[in-house]
Amino acid sequence: MMLPAAITSDELFMKTLERTLTIVKPDAVRRNAIGDIIEQFEKRGFRILAMKMLEISKHQAEHFYAVHAHKSFFNSLTDFMSSGPIVALALEKENAIADLRQLMGATNPASAEEGTIRKKWGSSIERNAIHGSDADDTARFELSFFFAGYELAQ
Ligand code: RTP
Ligand code: MG
Repeated sequence: MMLPAAITSDELFMKTLERTLTIVKPDAVRRNAIGDIIEQFEKRGFRILAMKMLEISKHQAEHFYAVHAHKSFFNSLTDFMSSGPIVALALEKENAIADLRQLMGATNPASAEEGTIRKKWGSSIERNAIHGSDADDTARFELSFFFAGYELAQ
């Protein structure tokens, strides 16, 4: 079959890459799980675009989780997220947002599927080892919360 002149074969097979934001939460950092979790990202084909270890303040945690401001667990969640070092990563792959959510497992580790990060490392519905963006718009907000444009320009 002849391809239209404007479409090269490279473009025809080009995958649509997506970016997502993940956080190794304070409980997982305390349990020395950073290396294991990053290894799982790489084994599942996520490319690490940017990564930083940092602590966020209570105020910054409230800003990051503002969508949950009205929830009963907001105060406890933001205390927890500001309780120690975390690792934030910008990840890229085809279908990154949904694939990361699948690799993370259910919010409550008690109901997380075998082979998921929360099943392995989570200890409670709050201390569930990892965060992942849940949609396109939240991924954009969350990536820009932790990373400047120049850090993602690759
Ligand atoms: P995340 O945002 O951290 O990736 O988690 P998620 O989408 O699976 O869950 P979400 O509903 O967005 O909740 C955000 C985080 O709040 C804590 N949480 N505590 N005590 C509770 O009932 C409760 N529910 C949620 C968890 O740390 C959850 O990941
Ligand atoms: Mg969420």
